Amino acid sequence: MRPRAAGLAGTWAGACLLLAALLFAPVHAQQTREDFARSLPASDFTSGHVRDDAKHFLAAPGFANARVAANPPAAGAQPVGEKVCIACHQLESEHFTHTLHALGLHAAAQADASVPVCESCHGAGSEHARDPTGKGLIIGYTRGSATPVQQQTEVCLSCHAGGAREHWAGSVHQRNALSCSDCHNPMANFSGQGLLARRSINDTCAQCHQDVRQQFGRRSHMPLAEGQMSCADCHNPHGTLTSPLLKTATVNETCYTCHAEKRGPFLFEHAPVRESCLNCHTPHGSNQHALLVAPVPLLCQQCHSQLGHPNDLQTPASLANGAHPDERLIGRACLTCHAQVHGSNAPSGPKFHE
Ligand code: HEC
Ligand code: HEC
Ligand code: HEC
Ligand code: HEC
Ligand code: HEC
Ligand code: HEC
Ligand code: HEC
Ligand code: HEC
Ligand code: HEC
Ligand code: HEC
Repeated sequence: MRPRAAGLAGTWAGACLLLAALLFAPVHAQQTREDFARSLPASDFTSGHVRDDAKHFLAAPGFANARVAANPPAAGAQPVGEKVCIACHQLESEHFTHTLHALGLHAAAQADASVPVCESCHGAGSEHARDPTGKGLIIGYTRGSATPVQQQTEVCLSCHAGGAREHWAGSVHQRNALSCSDCHNPMANFSGQGLLARRSINDTCAQCHQDVRQQFGRRSHMPLAEGQMSCADCHNPHGTLTSPLLKTATVNETCYTCHAEKRGPFLFEHAPVRESCLNCHTPHGSNQHALLVAPVPLLCQQCHSQLGHPNDLQTPASLANGAHPDERLIGRACLTCHAQVHGSNAPSGPKFHE
């Protein structure tokens, strides 16, 4: 029994090998530059937002089309190739090896030797190699490098224009002379995804927006500090049509992406909710309950003061342990009775009681 089984297995393995060789050999021989680019892994770090993966990949012309970046201060420079750069920049090159660009550019360069690697971002290197301290002879991306910020961003945008960066030109970050490299460091995998300059999106933004990051430490906040969401869930740092860099056309649309139940429709709408969630809430953190801008009943009394019971002045005597306890201050104050403050679908809910 045994020898026969082994023989059978051997025949099978042989047959499989032969089949595999027949199937794959011709394909491999015909593989073109484009095939290499297409066989690269698509990157995906959409943090929950719907995106067509195929379109996402097409947003960059791809690595196969990489060209030596233009660098006017070293107009006469010739490309020298990756090996020459590595000879002097061993450490940087080692960190770079495991990044998406390195994988892509190396694959493309393998298929077509004219595809540059380092020089697709840094420009032709012969003059820099001859005179490494010469200002501007290589395209630098660090603050203090001689390359103007606009020239830096143009190199990146030569492959990354459009898509999420449709509104980069004129955006508040572009106008304030941020470079792509303020948020991205393509030289190493500092972040799990997105080649960010810091460990996470939130850390990357906090380099400059410390104050906003602090607000997420207040008593009431959405779970950003806890790592459940990021600044980029609401903002597109590359620029948008909605100030301040909101991903959607209005504040409310941004909130509805997660709090869909607040969109309604409601039989009885509360006007300020439809207008803007920010009439009552602050997005980054509050020391009031539920991210409110002011405590209830003061919140409600900012608008409801003209007639009827909302108008009464509430004093310490109206507190539960005061001389004249008032239900509008006890427990959940106005919300004790007007519980459905975002809108109601109950036939008897015009005053948001239910
Ligand atoms: C002969 C050695 C040598 C070679 C070859 C070389 N470099 Fe450099 N490079 C240096 C030195 C030294 C510095 C630091 C210069 C300074 O501090 O002013 C430097 C600096 C840089 C910088 C920072 C410039 C800035 O303004 O921030 C970049 C980027 C760079 N090199 C990229 C490259 C690339 C890409 C190649 C290949 C095309 C390359 N280098 C080839 C020696 C070399
Ligand atoms: C996708 C574009 C891209 C490619 C490809 C690329 N770099 Fe860079 N490189 C950058 C950016 C952006 C920075 C600035 C990073 C930062 O903020 O510190 C940089 C920084 C550098 C620096 C300066 C580091 C410092 O601390 O001043 C050197 C040196 C360098 N790159 C060498 C190389 C070499 C060598 C290769 C090829 C093996 C290469 N780069 C490929 C984009 C690129
Ligand atoms: C030769 C074209 C080319 C150049 C130049 C280039 N990239 Fe890329 N980059 C790509 C391709 C292709 C991808 C992979 C497909 C994608 O994510 O769009 C990519 C991916 C990325 C990603 C996503 C990484 C991930 O993990 O999903 C970031 C961020 C990025 N590039 C930033 C930059 C920055 C910043 C520069 C300029 C310093 C730059 N790129 C220059 C072609 C390029
Ligand atoms: C203010 C910070 C910031 C600046 C400046 C910035 N980015 Fe980004 N970028 C991010 C963040 C954060 C993400 C991740 C977004 C997400 O997960 O939704 C990202 C994602 C990306 C991606 C991958 C996802 C995608 O949209 O395809 C690319 C490519 C990219 N950026 C390129 C660039 C280029 C090119 C520039 C310069 C023109 C640039 N970025 C400037 C913060 C920035
Ligand atoms: C290198 C510094 C820097 C980094 C990093 C940075 N920003 Fe900014 N950001 C700025 C500057 C400068 C302004 C303009 C401030 C002003 O006008 O008061 C700004 C403005 C903004 C605004 C306000 C826009 C407006 O119209 O008022 C938002 C929102 C914003 N940034 C979000 C982000 C997010 C999200 C990130 C991380 C992905 C980020 N920023 C990373 C420097 C930075
Ligand atoms: C839940 C959605 C959301 C998240 C998450 C979020 N923001 Fe905002 N952000 C907003 C909204 C909405 C506004 C407009 C506030 C206003 O007009 O009063 C805003 C305003 C801003 C502004 C301009 C006004 C100001 O308060 O300075 C900056 C800068 C900013 N955000 C940065 C950030 C940064 C950095 C992070 C991450 C640490 C972040 N945001 C996270 C929704 C968000
Ligand atoms: C990316 C998803 C996301 C977006 C966008 C978002 N939220 Fe939230 N929000 C959350 C999560 C997650 C929680 C925590 C829910 C929990 O703890 O049960 C939360 C909680 C809240 C709370 C209750 C906080 C508390 O202390 O009880 C309020 C109020 C709130 N969000 C308002 C808003 C407003 C206003 C916007 C628009 C500016 C918004 N959210 C946009 C995810 C989001
Ligand atoms: C008129 C003031 C007001 C407006 C405008 C408003 N809210 Fe609220 N919201 C409140 C109050 C008050 C609470 C606390 C309710 C409680 O304690 O039961 C609350 C609580 C919340 C909560 C946490 C409890 C829950 O019901 O899930 C979320 C999430 C929330 N609001 C989201 C939103 C969103 C999204 C918008 C915009 C579409 C919005 N709110 C507009 C007053 C308002
Ligand atoms: C930003 C202003 C604003 C705030 C804050 C606000 N409201 Fe309103 N509220 C309105 C407006 C405007 C209407 C619609 C009035 C109308 O239709 O005549 C309204 C309607 C109402 C109604 C129905 C009134 C009617 O005549 O049918 C109730 C009840 C109510 N609000 C309760 C509250 C409570 C409770 C709070 C606090 C949690 C609150 N409101 C906070 C502006 C506000
Ligand atoms: C003990 C329950 C209760 C509390 C607490 C309460 N309300 Fe009312 N509220 C009602 C009832 C019941 C009505 C309906 C009266 C009617 O239809 O004639 C009403 C009606 C209203 C109206 C509609 C206008 C009017 O005068 O008829 C507004 C606005 C309002 N309340 C706001 C508030 C505010 C703001 C607070 C907190 C300061 C509050 N209410 C606290 C029960 C309450």
